[in-house]
Amino acid sequence: MSATEFPTGSGPAAEDRPARPVVAVVLVAAGSGQRLGYGTPKARVPLGGEPILMHALRGIVASGVAQQVCVALPAGDGALRRMCDEFKGELVDGGPLLTVVDGGLTRAESVRSALAALEEGTQAVLVHDAARALTPETVFHRVVDSLAAGALAVIPVMPVVDTVKTVEATSGEDARMAPEVVVGTAPREKLRAVQTPQGFDYDTLMEAHRQAAGFDDAEAAAVTDDAMLVERLGVAVHAVRGASQSLKITTPLDLIIAEGLLEGPLGARWVEG
Ligand code: C5P
Repeated sequence: MSATEFPTGSGPAAEDRPARPVVAVVLVAAGSGQRLGYGTPKARVPLGGEPILMHALRGIVASGVAQQVCVALPAGDGALRRMCDEFKGELVDGGPLLTVVDGGLTRAESVRSALAALEEGTQAVLVHDAARALTPETVFHRVVDSLAAGALAVIPVMPVVDTVKTVEATSGEDARMAPEVVVGTAPREKLRAVQTPQGFDYDTLMEAHRQAAGFDDAEAAAVTDDAMLVERLGVAVHAVRGASQSLKITTPLDLIIAEGLLEGPLGARWVEG
């Protein structure tokens, strides 16, 4: 298989599919968004005339996978809380329960605040970055289908197009030539760029975060996603196909791309690719 191919697998016929678990989606939206340069939390930055948070919430609700959506917001952000309250009013009967919590200083702390607010009976949790506001519904379905089929952990991934190298900082004479030197090249066909929503069996994710709550500052700073915490437990993390539309809106260039996706000929009904 080449680096640009990923198995699609149409999966079993509808009548043979296992029952879906009771799913809660944790939406982490408590980041500062400094790299976007707006001077406000990223969740409030407008995209196609609406804050990024609203796109993320609508995407989750449209997927229909969640019985509960728990949003971690920057502590004390009244504007985003009001936005969530108004959105609650838009939800029709049978829509998910919407819960709001204050996030923490790190992404993992924000996830833990949200986990503490999940309803009893939750069987699976999808942790999703608000910054991936345009994630297609199909990606949510692929993640939940994998959990329903028995995976304890599943992540959406994309092939890597760049060659990726590991580097170290140079010192002494070498530092005059360049700030870093290459120490290895990872085999590209085995590399995947990881997206969200990342899906987990409830007990597995709770145990992973119980352990992470005891990390020192350096260990905590190295936690960039939830799957790596589950890997530490020795649990297999499965991978399904992500989507290029799930880009993490981080820099001004990402915002331009996201605006383009919304304004393109496909409008809000973006396709996979
Ligand atoms: O900062 P980073 O790019 O890793 O953020 C990924 C996601 O985690 C974003 O949606 C951001 O809002 C969220 N986050 C959070 N609490 C933090 C830091 C980041 O909810 N303290």
